[in-house]
Parts: sequence; C-alpha cells; structure tokens
Amino acid sequence: MQEEIAVVGAGVTKFGKRFDVSYRELMAEAASEAINSMDRPITPNQIQGLYVAASIPELTVDQAHVANLAAQELGLEPEIIARVEMACSSGSTAIRNAWAAIKSGLIDTALVVGLEKMYANTQAANHGLCIVPDVTYEATNGITAYSGFALIAQEHMKLYGTTRDQLSSVSVKNHSNGAKNPKAQFFEKGEITLEEAKSARMVSDPLNLYDCSPITDGGAAVILTRGSLTTKFSEQPVWIKGSGQSVEPSLGVSNMKSLTEWTALKRAAQKAYQTSGISPSDIDVAEVHDCFTIAEIIEYEDLGFTAKGTGGKFIEDGESALSGSLPVNTSGGLKAKGHPIGATGVAQVVEITEQLQGKSGKRQVDGANIGLTHNLSGFATHHVVHILSNEEAK
Ligand code: COA
Repeated sequence: MQEEIAVVGAGVTKFGKRFDVSYRELMAEAASEAINSMDRPITPNQIQGLYVAASIPELTVDQAHVANLAAQELGLEPEIIARVEMACSSGSTAIRNAWAAIKSGLIDTALVVGLEKMYANTQAANHGLCIVPDVTYEATNGITAYSGFALIAQEHMKLYGTTRDQLSSVSVKNHSNGAKNPKAQFFEKGEITLEEAKSARMVSDPLNLYDCSPITDGGAAVILTRGSLTTKFSEQPVWIKGSGQSVEPSLGVSNMKSLTEWTALKRAAQKAYQTSGISPSDIDVAEVHDCFTIAEIIEYEDLGFTAKGTGGKFIEDGESALSGSLPVNTSGGLKAKGHPIGATGVAQVVEITEQLQGKSGKRQVDGANIGLTHNLSGFATHHVVHILSNEEAK
C-alpha cells in the first residue's frame, strides 16, 4: 500500500478587518499558527515545499511574487516553491499540489500558507472579484459573483421549490456556528434570527446581505508530511484519505451545462470518495463552500449527502446543524467565519483537522473521525474535495 500523507500542523489567524497587521505580518502569523500547533518543533530545513495560495495581492496590497516573499519572511529555502492562484479555490488547490509533490516522492514535508488582505483596498478587492468571471463575454454584461449565483438560486427555486426560508436557514446556522468560533469574522456579532436573515437588504435578487459571504482579511496554514515522518512532529496526525479535483470547460455561467447540478463537483467528489474508500454516509463533519447560501444547498446534493433537489429540506430538517446527522460548516463557513479568498480552502482543512483532533471547543462534533472539505471557484466551475480521517489505514 502507498504511504499516506498527513496534516501535522494546522492553524488560522483571526479573520475580519485586520488593519493591525501588514500583508507580510499576516503571512507570518498564519505560518506561526500552524507551526505552534505542532506537538514537536520543525526546523526550516525540514520544510522542502512551500506553497502560497493568494488570489489578488497585486490588486489589494500592490505586491507580486508572494511565494518568494513568504520564503523571505519565514527564512525558508524550499526545493519546491509556488504561488497558487485559482481564485476562491486557491487554498485547496495549493494543498492538493503539496500532497501530490509529497506523494510523488520529490519532497517529504511542505508548508501551505493561504491568505488575502481584502480590506487593505476594498475597491481593488471588488475589482478582483469582478474579473473572476469571463470578462469579455460576461462580466462586462453585468455578470458578477452575486448576479451569477442569484441566477443559480432562481433556477434552483424554480426547479425544486427551494424557499426563501431555506436559503436564510443556511445563514442562521452558519452564524450560530461562527458565534462559537473566536477566530470567525462575525464571532462578536453572535447569532442571528431567521427574521433578521430574511429581511436583510437585497444584493442581487433573491440573494440578500445574509446570503453572501463577506469581504475578509485572514490567513491559514497547514504542514503536510509523509506517513513515516508524522511521529517526528505530531501525536495526532490527520490523514488525507482522498483528494479529487475537477473543472468544467467553462469560465462563466453561459457554458455551464446546468446551473443547479454541478457535474465538476460530482466528479471531484467521486474521485475523493473512490480514492479514500469512504462514502458520503461515513462523513461525520464537513466544511463546504458557502460563498452564497444557495451554494451550500446545492453542495449537500452534489456531494451526495442528500438526493438532488432535497438540499433545501436537508437544511430545514436540521440535518446539517451542529446537533444534526452531518454537521456542516462548524467553523461558521465562508458566511460567518469569513472568506479571505486565498486562505479559505486552507482554513477549511484546518477546521476539519481540529475537529478530528477534538480541539474545536464549543463547536466540537462528538466522535468526529472522518471529515470532508469542499472548495470551489468561479461559477462553481472548479472544485476540490478532500477527505480526512484521524485513523491511518490498517
Ligand atoms: N454578511 C453580513 N453582514 C455583512 C456582510 C455579509 N456578507 N457584508 C457586510 N456586512 C455588514 C458589515 O459588517 C457592516 O456592518 P456594521 O455597519 O455593523 O459594521 C455592514 O454590513 C456594511 O458593510 P459594508 O462593507 O459597507 O457592506 P457592502 O454593502 O459594501 O458589502 C457585500 C456587502 C455583500 C456586497 C460584500 O460583503 C461582498 O462583496 N460580499 C461578497 C464577496 C464575494 O463575492 N466573494 C466571492 C464569492 S464567490
């Protein structure tokens, strides 16, 4: 059997408005969070791979070549170094690349840092988000993240009868979880009511303010190593059992085969389930990409947690609540923890790692042994799914 790869260090910074730190300080803070979480110390020469997930630093903080910046700030001379840009799924893509490099035998250990500092220049951050869709054919005609996902929501409501209350219930749940996570952007805000979520100001019909993830500053980092080396660093390694990635041959909404059934997500999930030998019913806890509330509802369906068209009922029945059969977005998700683009996919793996190590405090899922992360970019055109477990293969 091939040697498995494990997470041996994982940490996130406080998410929100981080005017207290510069971009490079945020980068160092994220790396320190992961390094300080380790049971035994790691030396710079043990880190042979360095991956930096960052989507728009050229626009928001006027800095390019940020992987080299990380090498400088962290004092590293890695054998493999790369900046990974895949918009909102930069973080999970960087983790998958690090996992593949270790699996190939080229390196033993890698540090993955994801970050974004969007409040440094919100106008530039919005510009960065607006050029993710196909600029030539769609963005210039009014398709933005909000209006694209609004079309998706309208179609799902029409086809499957998904309701306003069901969309808002995703937001209420994720704010409730975020209120238990001191690192979340909306931790201080606390819980919100269904009425509050339903009556918020409209952004793009039917998506209102509480259907949208916010603008966020934040960083996250993980350290991965091969199975034979885990005991050098950790007493509780978390194993990457499965990994899947898939993309549609489409940059915008107009080339999507279906707005409401995400075939690339199904392919990525299938690959992760196949490679791990784990099925949806085995998952104890999941972090999924709730950039807009409708996304989480479709993800319940296309990840195989519930049948097509029943995602709305899944949230309404409380299945994805902290006390439900499959708690989803225990961190608060993108909605309440925040969505610092490059950091998001890394932060999802941090949350699942901590859940499987029993370190999640008030939001701990009892007996969580197997977790899943799902991170997407564009109009749900690119997806990465990871399955993690606190047990090594026998
Ligand atoms: N959810 C809840 N509250 C939010 C929020 C959100 N998504 N976004 C902002 N707020 C709150 C702020 O905390 C602030 O509250 P305060 O006055 O109590 O401090 C208030 O709303 C005004 O904030 P502001 O930043 O001025 O709002 P805005 O109208 O400029 O931005 C959105 C709101 C929805 C447009 C913005 O959050 C956004 O662009 N989100 C989407 C980001 C995105 O597309 N990411 C990629 C996904 S694929």
